[in-house]
Amino acid sequence: MTSETAKEPWGRHKKLERNIALLGAFAFVAVIIGGIVEIAPLFWIDNTIEKVEGMRPYTPLEQAGRDIYVREGCYVCHSQMIRPFRDEQERYGHYSLAAESMYDHPFQWGSKRTGPDLARVGGRYSDEWHVQHLTDPRAVVPESVMPTYAFLKNNDLDQGDMGAELTALSRVGVPYSKDDIAKANADLKSQADPNADNADLIARYPKAQVRDFDGNPAKLSEMDALVAYLQVLGTMVDVNSAAAQEELAKQEKGR
Ligand code: HEC
Repeated sequence: MTSETAKEPWGRHKKLERNIALLGAFAFVAVIIGGIVEIAPLFWIDNTIEKVEGMRPYTPLEQAGRDIYVREGCYVCHSQMIRPFRDEQERYGHYSLAAESMYDHPFQWGSKRTGPDLARVGGRYSDEWHVQHLTDPRAVVPESVMPTYAFLKNNDLDQGDMGAELTALSRVGVPYSKDDIAKANADLKSQADPNADNADLIARYPKAQVRDFDGNPAKLSEMDALVAYLQVLGTMVDVNSAAAQEELAKQEKGR
């Protein structure tokens, strides 16, 4: 070390600070290195979301219900994202895991809660409760400001081409098989038909709930699809075991 730099340790840095071209060049190099460190790993990992046991794509009927949820703008008043705060967990249940919305396109996390969070509403109420609530919210919750959606029960579910919808979703990474896509329209009908043989559907969509959802077995209505969707929310992953696994993993790391 020369005596000059020993006296003034930042001497060389001063040169850099006073030369705009040199400073620009060095800043550029620093940004490039930072960018590579952040971006490059994304090219080598398959997924940034940890897989959790139990997660499966929506059945065609649930997906159709989800489309109605989006069409009717339910997300304007309802979030689907339980944050890891004590008050939220006591009210809504275990906080939402990233994997639980990995097949949602677009996701329905939301940030506006005029009504309660719906991420774990599945199984909390009976189908009859949902049908009555959607038909006339004030019949079950007198102070409710939720609009009525009675027309859903009268609207036939537009069956369209569910195969095309599942194909589109599979292009953005939802793992529907060729079989799922070929049987999409048949699955849509049979899930809400109490007399159908749904063994094959349940084999492809584990734990799928099969029954008439709207209280009218003679009709496949938009209400059937929406209630099927509401009843699956938050039920795919056994959160307690997932939480237990996370906790264990954390302890494992700490050791
Ligand atoms: C204008 C705001 C608003 C819109 C839009 C809205 N809701 Fe609600 N929702 C509420 C409010 C407020 C409550 C709480 C009172 C009640 O239960 O009716 C609620 C409650 C609920 C509940 C009961 C949740 C619980 O845990 O008790 C469900 C399920 C629900 N809404 C579903 C829907 C669906 C499905 C749609 C779209 C078809 C929708 N909501 C649209 C405001 C809204």
